[in-house]
Amino acid sequence: MQVHSTSPMVVVANRLPFCLGTDPDTGKLIRKQCAGGLVTAVAPVVVETQGLWVGWSGLHTEDENVEIPEADPNDQSPTAGLKSSQVLPVTMPKKVFSDYYNGCCNATFWPLFHSMPDRATFQADKWEAYREVNREFARLTVEAVKRLRESHPDSVPLVWLHDYHMMLAANTIREKCDELNMPIKMAFFLHIPFPSWDITRLFPWDDELLQGVLGCDSIGFHIDDYCLNFIDCCQRRLGCRVDRQQMLVEHNSRTISINPLPISIPYERFVQLAEKAPKVVKNNPQEQLLLGVDRLDYTKGLVHRIRAFETLLEKHPELKEKVTFLQVAVPSRTDVKEYQELKEELDQLIGKINGQFSTPNWSPIRYIYGCVSQDQLAAFYRDSSVAVVTPLRDGMNLVAKEFVACQTGEPGVLILSPFAGAGISMHEALHVNPYETNEFSDTIYRALTMPKDEREMRMKQLRRRERDHDVNFWLRNFLKTVDCLSDVDKSQVSG
Ligand code: ADP
Ligand code: G6P
Repeated sequence: MQVHSTSPMVVVANRLPFCLGTDPDTGKLIRKQCAGGLVTAVAPVVVETQGLWVGWSGLHTEDENVEIPEADPNDQSPTAGLKSSQVLPVTMPKKVFSDYYNGCCNATFWPLFHSMPDRATFQADKWEAYREVNREFARLTVEAVKRLRESHPDSVPLVWLHDYHMMLAANTIREKCDELNMPIKMAFFLHIPFPSWDITRLFPWDDELLQGVLGCDSIGFHIDDYCLNFIDCCQRRLGCRVDRQQMLVEHNSRTISINPLPISIPYERFVQLAEKAPKVVKNNPQEQLLLGVDRLDYTKGLVHRIRAFETLLEKHPELKEKVTFLQVAVPSRTDVKEYQELKEELDQLIGKINGQFSTPNWSPIRYIYGCVSQDQLAAFYRDSSVAVVTPLRDGMNLVAKEFVACQTGEPGVLILSPFAGAGISMHEALHVNPYETNEFSDTIYRALTMPKDEREMRMKQLRRRERDHDVNFWLRNFLKTVDCLSDVDKSQVSG
């Protein structure tokens, strides 16, 4: 059910809710859909409240000046109702943007916040670019607030900043809006983990970072652990007074609420996709599919997973021609060296295993390096016997949730890493430490051979929980933290 907000919303995220591409027939610039929970959940509220979206269009100052196109009349996506006038594209010089995005967001915050400090680089010029880009996002956000105040003079707009790209924008937005006498509410949500103090303190400008985030009134993380890590950092680094029970931080005479808000998926949409998706073609009717779906990222534990599968094949030669590992990997951040190296490593490892174990009729690993359609994805989720979701670290992981939503046929098994946020609540999955190859391979074997009644019981519970706690549930709980929940929605939130 559609969620309502009592305030018009300005969403501020690194990316716009759609990508821009060229129509191959007409050569005209068109919108392309970006799948993802955030867009599906948040875009309808922006549409409904006649709000605005501030984000990077994918273009740079040096590129031709392009107008954001309107949605195609046949567009069915959640952003179809978003007029081009509701979108404020951020454009920066290529070098500055690359230093901010590749140099700081992807090379510093991504590895550091995933507790992989050895992979993180700390460079003052990249941090300076981050500051500069955040200032530009802040400038456009103030423009957005001005526009909303013109169209809704009595409203107090809700500015919602998203993710590690936007950690310095809040104070600039607040100061400027105060100066212009425009009251706003401001919230931040982090889509990745927030690490412990031990890790956060490695960042040379950690005080500035924490103060940046504390510019908001309400701060959300997926799970309690990330909230408590953040509170700990505020106390130890900034000397803030904190209340861990109530999850409150005092800073600059303001009280900021810290909220665990586990994100989820549009559950019903995935059920519907699964119900009409085409059947996956298998080698033979007995063949069991093991499935992995990830961006190609070193946090996802792809190499550990493939190694565990290799061990399984060594220990159980009888699985030959009966089990196939289907790994879908979406190209991601391909300008960053670490990502290029991971691709090389995976190509080699998969080639080696396929070379060693293949028969004339079967290859143990089917590997897709690319995007697949939502229909195809739903078909893979529905027809796989086992989904292997084993990141080394992950904020939440939506793939685990999409898999159970799509399990509308013969029930399969979810293997889940305890190091994903999803591992906290999805109790009926088989949990495995991805670093322990031997136990990992035994867990895959257990999943492949699990009796039907056990699979049924586990999957039923997993599905029920995700159905009740879908992405709209997340959104309502968020709106509650900023006191923007409509009366209709009040009856539908917990607590
Ligand atoms: P992350 O945000 O780190 O990429 P998540 O698991 O939380 O990890 O979210 C990944 C999202 O990307 C999911 O919504 C999933 O459906 C989508 N996705 C992953 N792989 C593909 C693919 N090959 N094609 C299309 N969408 C994909
Ligand atoms: C994660 C982050 C998002 C990011 C996405 C894709 O989900 O939390 O903020 O948009 O990865 O990464 P990219 O760098 O391509 O935007």
